[in-house]
Amino acid sequence: MTLWGGRFSDGPAHSLWQFTVSHADRRLLEVDVEGSIAHLAGLGAAELVTRDEQAALEAGLREISEEAADGSFTWLDTDEDVHSAVERRLGEIAGPVAAKLHTARSRNDQIALDIRLYLAGEALRRMDQIRGLIEALVDRAEAAGDVVVASYTHLQQAQAVPLAHHLLAHAWPLVRDLDRFAGVRRRLDLSPLGAAAGGGTSLPIDPMVAADSLGLGGVFDNSIDAVSSRDVAAEYLWCCTRAMVDISRLSEDLVLWATTEFGWASYPDSVTTGSSALPHKKNPDIAELARGKAGSAIGHLTGFLAMEKGLPLAYDRDLQQDKEHLFTVDDDLAGALAALTEMVSGAVLDPPHPSAWVTAMDLAEVLVERGVAFREAHEIVGRFVGALQAGGRTFESVDGGEIAAVHEALEPGDVAVLDPVRSVARRRSHGGGSFESVAVQIRSLREGLAASDR
Ligand code: ARG
Repeated sequence: MTLWGGRFSDGPAHSLWQFTVSHADRRLLEVDVEGSIAHLAGLGAAELVTRDEQAALEAGLREISEEAADGSFTWLDTDEDVHSAVERRLGEIAGPVAAKLHTARSRNDQIALDIRLYLAGEALRRMDQIRGLIEALVDRAEAAGDVVVASYTHLQQAQAVPLAHHLLAHAWPLVRDLDRFAGVRRRLDLSPLGAAAGGGTSLPIDPMVAADSLGLGGVFDNSIDAVSSRDVAAEYLWCCTRAMVDISRLSEDLVLWATTEFGWASYPDSVTTGSSALPHKKNPDIAELARGKAGSAIGHLTGFLAMEKGLPLAYDRDLQQDKEHLFTVDDDLAGALAALTEMVSGAVLDPPHPSAWVTAMDLAEVLVERGVAFREAHEIVGRFVGALQAGGRTFESVDGGEIAAVHEALEPGDVAVLDPVRSVARRRSHGGGSFESVAVQIRSLREGLAASDR
């Protein structure tokens, strides 16, 4: 059913219907009905419907709400969109009084509200999932104990750090993602209902009544802006995309760690897949797909912004495409968070000991402690490393005598500095790769999780 037959003498062409009708909005059914119940409260307060009419319409809407919840709502091919479907069904249940529901409202303010309500609910679910992934990382960090690994720059072994420090480096971006979702939720908390088609209405409806009944924090200031803006939806999409990009970096680590070359991790059968050709393989597909879908998220965010760019005010049908972008990325994020949380929780982590080269800066810092300028100390250690490497040797093979020969400020006992575990024990800078810092981080992350849990 369409909501606009009056001025048309002919029905819609098949091609128009095929091209313009999208089923993407069907998932808005529950929030659309919720919004209609709130709108009805506004109509009642403005006496635009009688008490009896309000009761009949509300009973009908609540019935549709139940059908939506238990999956028994029937969609017809002739329903142009979710709004039309609800009004059609309301007519079937409540009779001709259904024709009063759309008083002082347009699908333009209705869809703007639906998106806000839907995304506000989704944001809470994504936040719960992000908290779950943070918790999994913190649990793994705690369980990692005193295991030391190499940290990397340029994917070359750089410094020794606790494995926990590396794991927690993936938790902190997620904390910021959580905060971003909380921020966008605040901006979603507004009702566009009452803006009608974009210019408002001559009927005495008070937008605050619907906003209050939905528990929303406020109403729009400008009716054109209320129906035409999608910046907050774009911001939601950005939050999802940013989280996808963050978990794509975790994903890349999970992939890398499982390589024979890295050998840091293996994963349970339940979170890996096999190869149809190579019987020995166990593939980290979850992490690969999460990494890949981050790319598609960036495309959708770009597509969304391109859809909005230069659009004339107020509502344009282009905006109908917002759903495809929003829902695809939101769904991908939900799936990726669930699967990656299992993968992180199930990972068997057994990384190899880092090479002793990761202690080179420590040796330079010992010289600094004894009065040598850092640039000079860097040069001295660099020459020592170069000479050892030219002889096909490593730090592991160096003895006390050789260390003492590097510089007059060094003693044979300083050879102990070339131990990656000692390197971590020496670390004392704020937030650095030390066990003290890891303990502080774990405490702070756990406190943050407890405080942000509703
Ligand atoms: N289906 C549209 C959307 O998703 C809502 C209807 C907007 N109004 C209109 N006159 N076509 O954005």
